[in-house]
Amino acid sequence: MDWSSFSIGNAAGFIKGPGQQFNDALRSAATYITIGSLTINQRDGNPGSVYQFFDDGTSVNALGLPNPGIDAIRHEAENMAEQAQGAGKHIRWSLAGFSVDEYVQLSEALFEHGRLELNLGCPNVWGDSGQKPIAAFDLDLMKAIITEVSRRMPGLFFDIKVSPYSDPSMIQRIADLVRDTQVLNIVTCNTFPNAIAYKDCKRALQTPNGYGGMAGNGLFPIALGQVAQFAEALGDEGPGIIGVGGINSGERVRAMNDAGATGIQIGTAFGEHGAGIFSDVLQELAAVT
Ligand SMILES: Cc1cc2nc3c(=O)[nH]c(=O)nc-3n(C[C@H](O)[C@H](O)[C@H](O)COP(=O)(O)O)c2cc1C
Repeated sequence: MDWSSFSIGNAAGFIKGPGQQFNDALRSAATYITIGSLTINQRDGNPGSVYQFFDDGTSVNALGLPNPGIDAIRHEAENMAEQAQGAGKHIRWSLAGFSVDEYVQLSEALFEHGRLELNLGCPNVWGDSGQKPIAAFDLDLMKAIITEVSRRMPGLFFDIKVSPYSDPSMIQRIADLVRDTQVLNIVTCNTFPNAIAYKDCKRALQTPNGYGGMAGNGLFPIALGQVAQFAEALGDEGPGIIGVGGINSGERVRAMNDAGATGIQIGTAFGEHGAGIFSDVLQELAAVT
């Protein structure tokens, strides 16, 4: 296996702009740096306790997309992209809109400064009328977002990030939706929605019902299954697949590749161990390939 074209980066949710984490990522063995998810407006995210990490390597979070907003980042984007380029990497901008038009606006603001990952799978936003719907479970909305971003930026290839699907037919329908479009990669997967972190005899997160998205070790078998199913559904001609979920070792990178991934991302383990995780897993990968 030639690993030179295999991409490895941090998953969205951990680096929101310039700063120490970005600098650490610049010096890391990652092939790109994901920034965001970014929204149109600045967001504080959900208040109170919103992250729980368990000893078994599983995480549950309900950060709710805290980020400085697109205007603050727009001014930094060119500089950040140049720094990444100087380090032999590129930036991946993770974008989270609350409407089709917001995905267009966010994409227009940043497409010249790196690759785009449209986050369609955030489960952790609550508004006045309850939990916001997750675009990744609404095929019509997904189609509208992909179609409109493509129409407004012809020739631009971009990635979409989706939730884990327990219904295999959804995976087939999404594969059919993205084939022959401007979708370059499917990033699978975001957190498993509405899990509950139970600790010290109570629900640990201070969100409605204590809900949050599950990731880390517990998500790995699910994410691996998602990659394998997308690979089967897409066939050789389809977009690439970026595997994300519970990756924290070289063996798991290999497993993702064996299942059909053309790249991987690391979220929880990056958050817990920092940017050194990339060289760690790459060293381990060398030993298992
Ligand atoms: C603390 C935290 C914050 C996250 N924030 C985002 C986000 O802003 N956008 C996004 O697309 N995914 C977000 N995610 C999901 C991760 O990018 C990733 O898809 C998921 O955690 C699975 O990978 P992992 O098991 O390696 O953590 C977040 C995950 C965690 C744990």
